[in-house]
Amino acid sequence: MSRITLSRFLIEQQRQGGTLPPELRLLIETIGRACKAINHAVNQGALAGVLGEAGTGNIQGEAQKKMDVIANDYLLDANEWGGSLAAMASEEMELPYHIPGEYPKGDYLLMFDPLDGSSNIDVNISVGTIFSVLRCPPGTVNPTEADFLQPGTRQVAAGYALYGPQTQLILTFGNGVFGFTLDREQGAFVLTTPNMRIPESTGEFAINMSNARHWEAPVKRYVDELLAGSTGPRGRDFNMRWVASMVAEVHRILTRGGIFMYPKDARDPEKPGKLRLMYEGNPMAFIVEQAGGLATDGHRRILDIQPGKLHERVAVFLGSREEVERVTGYHAE
Ligand code: AHG
Ligand code: MN
Ligand code: MN
Repeated sequence: MSRITLSRFLIEQQRQGGTLPPELRLLIETIGRACKAINHAVNQGALAGVLGEAGTGNIQGEAQKKMDVIANDYLLDANEWGGSLAAMASEEMELPYHIPGEYPKGDYLLMFDPLDGSSNIDVNISVGTIFSVLRCPPGTVNPTEADFLQPGTRQVAAGYALYGPQTQLILTFGNGVFGFTLDREQGAFVLTTPNMRIPESTGEFAINMSNARHWEAPVKRYVDELLAGSTGPRGRDFNMRWVASMVAEVHRILTRGGIFMYPKDARDPEKPGKLRLMYEGNPMAFIVEQAGGLATDGHRRILDIQPGKLHERVAVFLGSREEVERVTGYHAE
């Protein structure tokens, strides 16, 4: 059978269900192109002088890597002129980015984490790009922060690119999860996993254990039980992984199952967790649910949360259904 490139896949999706409007198809192709450019810079690394600190900070109070800034610029440049977007918002920018006056405006809002896991860029461990697409409220001329504040259930598309041993693009429009692998010679993403499904049971968990002393009681209990393994109430052993790139953890979970946790902790009472709802929590929750898994903040489905601000943080428990149900259940007790 001939190979299905991203372009062909998108055109066929558009034809089949009529669920993928041409502007959204164009937007996804453009994001794919920007990810190829980011991938190229990531691959070049020291050869292109893109490693190390940018010497600036973002709105989250985090030091920016050079590649955080480069990836953000690539996504803005690629997406501002195509006519699909009303505005963009990024983890790396305080305010929404408006489409310059010389270009046509479209109906969609794009949000992204340009480089996820950027603490790993200098040590050559996988990083990625995460994105989420919403519809702009009808009749909006100049979208403001308020127009972005829609719950994750309203996402019309979400995905991530993973820059690892292979470069992959994972997409959902709400009818399953599709995985593409970049053929570097052809310069095309090729469909390699048409229907990604997360196993319901797992023996693998991911959490930053160095924060254990700051966790809330339900998380302590859940992780203690995993650590007790076959000698504890679970009666079987669990294995642990922590990459420190959410994209890589989610990709592992989509491939072979697992649970990923970044809970709220007592380090900074102002922040309900480290990860950002709009750029990390929502797109990953959409993908995980579409693959048969679950994503909660310990209490509620992440996708149901009404965001209060653009850079809002959220606690994240996602992955294999049985484990996410269990740890969410412990929060309710
Ligand atoms: P980012 O690089 O976009 O700021 O995201 C990093 C996030 C996420 O990818 C990862 O799961 C987590 O931060 C790692 O946190 P620790 O530093 O606590 O390991
Ligand atoms: Mn991130
Ligand atoms: Mn980032």
